[in-house]
Amino acid sequence: MSNLCIIDHPLVQHKLSLMRQQDCSTYKFRTLTNELARLMAYEATRDFPIEDYDMMGWEGNIIQGKQIKGKTVTIVPILRAGIGMLDGVMDMLPTAKISVVGLQRDEETLQPVSYFDKFVPNVSERTALIIDPMLATGGSMVATIDLLKSKGCKDIKALVIVAAPEGVKVVNDAHPDVTIYTAALDSHLNENGYIIPGLGDAGDKIFGTV
Ligand code: URA
Repeated sequence: MSNLCIIDHPLVQHKLSLMRQQDCSTYKFRTLTNELARLMAYEATRDFPIEDYDMMGWEGNIIQGKQIKGKTVTIVPILRAGIGMLDGVMDMLPTAKISVVGLQRDEETLQPVSYFDKFVPNVSERTALIIDPMLATGGSMVATIDLLKSKGCKDIKALVIVAAPEGVKVVNDAHPDVTIYTAALDSHLNENGYIIPGLGDAGDKIFGTV
C-alpha cells in the first residue's frame, strides 16, 4: 500500500507480540506502548535533513558536529489513547512542542468532530507527528490531518502501533501525502470496529479502565 511504512524490526515485532498477549498488564502494556513509540519516532525521523557545524571538541580543537537542519516538530496525540505514546516520542524529540486533538462522533453525521484542539502557535512551520496507537476506520486520523492542514501544516506523518487495511485506505485516499508508520498491518476490522488480531481497546489498556 502506498505511503505505508511497516517497521519490520525484530525489537518492534517482539514488543508488539507481548502487547497482543491476553494477560498483558496495564503497566506492561503502557511501558511497551512507549517503547514502541520511541522506536517508531526513530524510524519516522529517518529522512530529517542534517547539516555539519563547527564545535569545540574535548581536546580543545574545532571539530565538526552534525545537527538536524531546520526541522521543528509538533507531536499531535489524538485523545485519549494517543497520550500513551507521548512520553516515548518525546524521549526522542525532547524539544518538540505538543498539539492536542480530541474528537467525538457527531450523532447525526456519524463523522468525528473536534471537541478539543490546541495547536502550537507556529504549527504551519512544523513537521507534525500524529500519534494514536490504533488506526481502525481512519476517521479520527483523517479528521486530525484535516485540522492540521486547515492550520497550514504541510508536513504530516502518522505513527500508529497497529493499522487496519480499511483505515490505511481511508487515510491514503484522503491524504496521499501523509506517510503512515506502523508496527503491523493487521487483517481486518470486526463488526464492532476492533482491529483483528489487534490489541483490543488500546485506550482502556493504557489507562487501566478495563
Ligand atoms: N481502537 C482501539 O483501541 N482498538 C481497536 O481495535 C480499534 C480502535
